[in-house]
Amino acid sequence: MSVRVIGSEVREMFGSIAHRYDLTNSVLSMGIHRFWRRVLVQQLPTSKDALVLDLCSGTGDLVPLLERRFGTTFAGDFCFPMMSSGRAKFRSQRFSIPRFVQSDALRLPFADASLDIVSVAFGVRNLENLDKGLQEMRRVLKPGGHLLVLEFGQPRGYFFAPLFRFYSAFIMPLIGGLLTGNLRAYTYLPKTSREFPCAEAFSAILQKAGYEDARYRSLTGGIAYAYCARRPK
Ligand SMILES: C[S@@+](CC[C@H](N)C(=O)[O-])C[C@H]1O[C@@H](n2cnc3c(N)ncnc32)[C@H](O)[C@@H]1O
Repeated sequence: MSVRVIGSEVREMFGSIAHRYDLTNSVLSMGIHRFWRRVLVQQLPTSKDALVLDLCSGTGDLVPLLERRFGTTFAGDFCFPMMSSGRAKFRSQRFSIPRFVQSDALRLPFADASLDIVSVAFGVRNLENLDKGLQEMRRVLKPGGHLLVLEFGQPRGYFFAPLFRFYSAFIMPLIGGLLTGNLRAYTYLPKTSREFPCAEAFSAILQKAGYEDARYRSLTGGIAYAYCARRPK
């Protein structure tokens, strides 16, 4: 049975785990999420004067990579505690603080055709209305602009697939629950990952939402996927 996602509940859930979100991410992925983020930005060539929106930006982990590779980057999220944890993290590391903009992915506070790149890391599967979110991202992209998506998938293989299913169904909730005090969130998050369409299925969704040239790379045996697609000119 698929997971029903309600925006206000998602916002509340991320608000309750924001204080430990980064730590939990690093522990649960054993740090591999950093490699996945690097692969995501490498889907597009370097450019210095692009305008970028990192949507569902959370604590802003992707922002420095985007800034370095493409140019000015805004970090949009609708969960204030996630952005506020992000601000504190960057300040304590003496890095420049991302330009956080409180934004709902379903009603973006950006003008039509104003951005060169929109990126979303581990955010699209949490949208209450995926099609509407993809349409909004398309609206704010300039014609010829690109969408980058990093999202979980379902690993394949006789050995790896069941092993990962066990890890995500039992170990992730246990560790995530212990670290954040919110077992429910870390039962919900892996469950949505197990059910979210990946690879060709998500590329087809992108095409249906009006993007072209959708391509993807499978990462770490299909645990995650990096997608890239373009708003037609
Ligand atoms: C799993 S976190 C990912 C955070 C970050 N991108 C990362 O890679 O670590 C998902 C984020 O999406 C945000 N989010 C979910 N639905 C959203 C929406 N409709 N509009 C804006 N942000 C949303 C949540 O608040 C949360 O911060």
